[in-house]
Amino acid sequence: MSEVHIHPVPAEFASRAHIDAGDYEKLYRESIENPEAFWSRQAQDFLQWEKPFTRVVEEDLKKGHTAWFADGELNVAVNCIDRHLPARAEQTALIWEGDDPADSKNITYSELHEQVCRLANLLKERGVKKGDRVCIYMPMIPEAAYAMLACARIGAVHSVVFGGFSPGSLRDRILDSDCRLVITADEGVRGGKTVPLKANVDKALADCPNVHTAIVVKRTGADVGWNGERDIWYAESVAEQSSDCAPEPMNAEDPLFILYTSGSTGKPKGVLHTTAGYLLMCTMTFKYAFDYKEGDIFWCTADVGWITGHSYIVYGPLSTGAISLIFEGVPTYPDASRCWQVVEKHKVNSFYTAPTAIRALMGAGDEFVTKTDRSSLKLLGTVGEPINPEAWEWYYKVVGEERCPIIDTWWQTETGAHLITPLPGAIDMKAGSATKPFFGVQPALMDDQGREIDGEGAGALVMKASWPSMIRSVYGDHQRMIDTYFSAYPGYYFTGDGARRDADGYYWITGRMDDVLNVSGHRLGTAEIESAIVLHDDTAEAAVVGYPHDIKGQGIYAYVTLKAGHEPNEELRQELIDLCVKEIGSIAKPDIIQWAPGLPKTRSGKIMRRILRKIAGNELDSLGDTSTLADPSVVEELIEHRANC
Ligand code: WT7
Repeated sequence: MSEVHIHPVPAEFASRAHIDAGDYEKLYRESIENPEAFWSRQAQDFLQWEKPFTRVVEEDLKKGHTAWFADGELNVAVNCIDRHLPARAEQTALIWEGDDPADSKNITYSELHEQVCRLANLLKERGVKKGDRVCIYMPMIPEAAYAMLACARIGAVHSVVFGGFSPGSLRDRILDSDCRLVITADEGVRGGKTVPLKANVDKALADCPNVHTAIVVKRTGADVGWNGERDIWYAESVAEQSSDCAPEPMNAEDPLFILYTSGSTGKPKGVLHTTAGYLLMCTMTFKYAFDYKEGDIFWCTADVGWITGHSYIVYGPLSTGAISLIFEGVPTYPDASRCWQVVEKHKVNSFYTAPTAIRALMGAGDEFVTKTDRSSLKLLGTVGEPINPEAWEWYYKVVGEERCPIIDTWWQTETGAHLITPLPGAIDMKAGSATKPFFGVQPALMDDQGREIDGEGAGALVMKASWPSMIRSVYGDHQRMIDTYFSAYPGYYFTGDGARRDADGYYWITGRMDDVLNVSGHRLGTAEIESAIVLHDDTAEAAVVGYPHDIKGQGIYAYVTLKAGHEPNEELRQELIDLCVKEIGSIAKPDIIQWAPGLPKTRSGKIMRRILRKIAGNELDSLGDTSTLADPSVVEELIEHRANC
C-alpha cells in the first residue's frame, strides 16, 4: 500500500458544518446503542407525518426482513413539495439546464406543486390507482421529476428506466413489473444528438398489450409514430386537469418505487423501495453528507434513471426544500468546460459526479477548468465506483482549489442512500477511501470462513443491521432478494463488494466480488452481455469479464467462440457490438472482442472466469493453477492472441 495522504477537515468548514467530529462520535454511538430512540427522533425531525408512528424498527436479517415506522402514514410528494409551500412557495425548487447552453429555466416550489398535481390528476383519469406501476422513460427534463412525484402523490409505484436503454430492455422492465402506463418524450437531447425515445417506446410496447396509455412530452417536436388509442400529448392533457390533487395517505411501508439493476444472472432485478425509511435516509444524508444549508444550489450530474438521480436530484433535495439542478446534457458538450460553466452560470455550491467523469475531464486538461469561476463551490462529491487517488487529488486541487472537501460516497441501488461516506465537517479525508459509516450503519468484513474480521483487514463487505432505506424486495421474486443479499452470510446483508479496513477504521472499497461489472459507474451483469452475443447465429459461446480502463474504471472484454465453420472477421465483430447495443443499450458496448477457439473450463464444464480476468487485465504472472482445466492449452492460445488494451 503506497503512503496515504490525509486531508484534515478544514477548521473553518467544521465550525460551520451541521456535524463536527464530536457530534459524529456522539450521534453515531447513540445510533448503534439506542437505535429506536435515535431513529424515532430523526423520523420526527426530518419528515412530516399524517399519522404518527408508534413502532420504529422490526428486523430479521436471516429472512431478509425489515420494516421501519410500520404503523405511520405520510405522503412523499407532500414531504417534497407541500410542506415547503408556507415558507418557500416562490423559492426555486429545480433549476433546469438544457443540453444547449442557452436553455435553462427555474421552477419554483409552487410551480412544482401545480405541475405535479395536474399530472397526478391525469394519471388518475387514465385509471392509475394506488399500488399500480407506472414506467417513466424520459430525458433529463423537469417533467421526469414531475412524473416521479405525481406517482408518489397518488400512491402509484414508479419504475424509471434509463433513457439509454434499448427497446428490448425497456420492454422486459415494463413486463416484469406489469406497468400499465408509460410516460416518455418524443425525443431526448444529449450532447447535441437526439435520442429516439418515443420510437423506442413504440417498439417496446408492441410486446406489452397491458399498456393502455403513453403520455408523451413534446421535447423536440420531431415527427413520431402515433397510436391514437394509446398515446396522448403531455402538455395539452395536463392543461385540462385541476391544479389541486389530494395526496394519497401512504403507509410507511407501502412501495414507493422499483428500480432495475443488474445482478450476476441475465435478468435485471427490480429493487423495491418503500416510503418512509427511504425518504428519511435520503433526506438525512442529503443534509449531513452534503452539509446542505438553506439556499445552497446543489447539482448532482446523474440521470434520474439511476438511484443517484432518484435520491439526490429528486427525493433528498426536494424533501429538504433545497434547490436542485437537473442537467439534460453531458459533461463534454459543447466542450470539456461545460460542467464548470454551469457551476459559474448558476453559482452552484455543491457538485456531485462520478469518477469516470472526473477522469475524462482531467484528461482534457486543466485549462477547461481554470478558465471558469468556481468560487461558489463549497463541496465536491463522488459516487459510483472507487476513485483513484490521482483523480481525487486533481478534483481536490484543480476543481475545488483545495477549498472544498470531497465526499466519496459508497452506496448502492439496494441501499437507497449513502451508507459509507465522510461527513465533511467531521471526518478527515483520505483520497480513495469512502471513510466511515453513516449514522446507524454497521459495516463488517467477512473472511472466507464467514467470520467477522476484527480491526485491520480485507474481506467481503456486509452490514450487520438493517437501515431505514434498505431494499425490501426484488419485485415479483422475493426469494431472489433473500438468495442474493441475505444467504451468503446468514444474519447479514451482503453488498457484493469487497473492502479493506485500515488502522483508523476507514473503509476502502476494492470492487465487486460477483460477476457484475462497473462500467463508468454503471452496473452491468456479464451474463446480460453474454446472452446478447450468443443471440448471433455464428456464435457458439461467450464469456465477458471486466478489465482496468483508464476512463471507464472497467472496460468490457468479451471472449467469443464461433460455431464450427465460421471465421472471425471485422464485420462480425461489428455485428456483435451492434447486437449488444441493440439488446441492452450503448452502455453495454464491448470495448474488446477476442476470438477464442476455446474457453478455459473445469472438467465439469464451468468457465474459469478468474483466468479470463487475469488475461484481460494483463496479469499473466498470476494466472494461478491451470492444471485443473479440462484443456490447459486453451490458456496458452488465449494469451498468445490477447488483445492489447
Ligand atoms: C455499486 C453500486 C450508488 C449509486 C451509484 C451506483 C460501486 C458505488 C462507490 C464508491 C467505490 C462504489 C460498488 C457498489 N460503488 N459507490 N464511492 N466507491 N465503489 O449504484 O448501480 O447500484 O452500483 O457501485 O461496487 O456495489 P449501483
